[in-house]
Amino acid sequence: MKIPFSPEQASTIAGSIDAIYLYIVAVTIFFTALIYGLVAVFAVQYRRKSPDEVPGAIHGHNGLEITWTVIPLIISMTMFIWGTVVFFHYARPPKDAQEIFVVGKQWMWKIQHPSGKREINELHVPINKPVRLKMTSEDVLHSFYIPAFRVKMDVIPGRYSSLWFEATRLGSYHLFCTEYCGTQHSGMIGKVHVLSQEDYQKWLETGSAANTPVPVSGQELFKTLNCATCHNSGSGALGPNLNGIYGKPVQLADGSTVTADDKYIRRSILKPADQVVAGYAALMPSYQGQVNEEQIMQLIEYIKGLKETSAPAPASATEV
Ligand code: CUA
Repeated sequence: MKIPFSPEQASTIAGSIDAIYLYIVAVTIFFTALIYGLVAVFAVQYRRKSPDEVPGAIHGHNGLEITWTVIPLIISMTMFIWGTVVFFHYARPPKDAQEIFVVGKQWMWKIQHPSGKREINELHVPINKPVRLKMTSEDVLHSFYIPAFRVKMDVIPGRYSSLWFEATRLGSYHLFCTEYCGTQHSGMIGKVHVLSQEDYQKWLETGSAANTPVPVSGQELFKTLNCATCHNSGSGALGPNLNGIYGKPVQLADGSTVTADDKYIRRSILKPADQVVAGYAALMPSYQGQVNEEQIMQLIEYIKGLKETSAPAPASATEV
């Protein structure tokens, strides 16, 4: 159902978000009208009609008490359960969602597609395909908002947040920053372009010679930062072998176990001393200030792609 004065519905989730929104608004209007209406009616009907009029004693009414407790309970539970179902759908991107990387920065959106193609304040996406944005910020809090898709998520410095949608209509839609982030906050806007799948492929390929796929950029960084000096899979390596670690549990020196996810890898690059892997000395220097958020994402994508069976990284820097 289309709500008047609201943006058009251009994603799979827009209809269900609007439906629950309309339901909550309708219930609110109904009860507001009922309560204020009754206040007015009762004020007239039960007004004091003569100076010596004394009202009758009230003895309570269990049936009435139960009714006005149970009905609101049922109504609020429908909002809660319905809202939770929609929220779960919204919060869990489908496994096959295509990933696009977003870095917020005062005052622009920097976007990179897995093929390496970049854009600023514009986001091109294919129609009828789930897309997951992996987002972080280089400075302060921002928030990524596409009204026509009914999706919005905070973009937070120092961590990753994600947002997914599946566009259902071709066209261009507004993109806003919706978290006050400084002087030019209101100018931190852009456009989301929904293309047909063929047009999206064509768009990705234009100027593709200049693009380096994200994991390949990560691999190049891995080399130039000399990561392989220690993280080679040879025996006696100074750093843990990274092949196949993504998503796996890692035993730390303090006895605890963590999962090797984006957050863990990011922290290991910036604050390696915080989570030292069992069996290794805390030798790794911090790369804080040497890699920006985009580069950290690229390194993570490279490490993600390392299979257990990947060729061992060269044993020393001289061979790189
Ligand atoms: Cu970025 Cu407001």
